[in-house]
Amino acid sequence: MSDQILKVVVRKRQEQGEDVVVLDLSDPAGKPLPAFEAGAHVDIHLAPGLVRQYSLCGDPAQNEVYRLGVLKDPASRGGSIAVHEQLLEGQEVEISVPRNLFPLASDARRSILIGGGIGITPMVAMAYALQARDSQFELHYCGRSRSRSAFLEELQNAAFAPCVSTHFDDEADEQKLNLPAVLGKPGEGVHVYVCGPSGFMDWVISEAVKAGYADDHIHREYFQVEVDNSGAGFEVVAARSGKSVQVAEGQTILEALAGVGIKIDISCEQGVCGTCLCDVLEGEPDHRDVYLTDDEKAANDQILVCCSRAKSNKLVLDI
Ligand code: FES
Repeated sequence: MSDQILKVVVRKRQEQGEDVVVLDLSDPAGKPLPAFEAGAHVDIHLAPGLVRQYSLCGDPAQNEVYRLGVLKDPASRGGSIAVHEQLLEGQEVEISVPRNLFPLASDARRSILIGGGIGITPMVAMAYALQARDSQFELHYCGRSRSRSAFLEELQNAAFAPCVSTHFDDEADEQKLNLPAVLGKPGEGVHVYVCGPSGFMDWVISEAVKAGYADDHIHREYFQVEVDNSGAGFEVVAARSGKSVQVAEGQTILEALAGVGIKIDISCEQGVCGTCLCDVLEGEPDHRDVYLTDDEKAANDQILVCCSRAKSNKLVLDI
């Protein structure tokens, strides 16, 4: 993972829908920014200790600007509110270089993109990329209402507009997402991509599994996950220093380690980004993240310490 930091400036800021701000970030001197792939995100450094990930939602062929869409979340732990309040036009901010944890499959014959609410953001970049590749796709945008939804005008005016369908909760039943019909039977090389609130994603993923899609043809990006810290306490040993700490119920491993002076790099604190990944030398993790794949979780040799716990009484970590 690259730690390279870019200084960028907010060139343009638009309010779109209710509570969504769309930001165009560019190099202060107008130089091109590092190229990005559809599905990539950047970390935005909003304040010391406040780093949040947002998907890039512009056209990946345009590298003068990184475009982000950020929903002001009433349950925000500070990130989206800081974006809305601080990132005004002309404001400089530090970001990471783009990283892609949600790439398009290179061998797809057809792609079904499904975005719920602000989960539309990576799908917009994917639509531009698939259009540029001349690859077959459809984009389904689900939202509570048209008035709350961002990017509608852009999607209606894009060259790929015929591939876009919108589905709003407060409009006629006929336009609502008929997921079994959209997914159909999984043909060869058909890939499904979903991003949105976790309940929406669980619904799409379970329907795709029911329809017969293989796990590696269902691509997902979570942007909001509730961390569940319930469960009995356990011991964590930091092998390099030999320090041992008890993790109480309701406490994260991260918090317990901080209590004995062991600092781990973090970002999302929700098991989404992978920043706090540590190697496990002994013991059995209780994985509660959405970052590791099922196979990686089954291997039990890595753990995300911001959210996961232990099934065994003791975990020894390579830290
Ligand atoms: S800090 Fe993001 S997964 Fe732990």
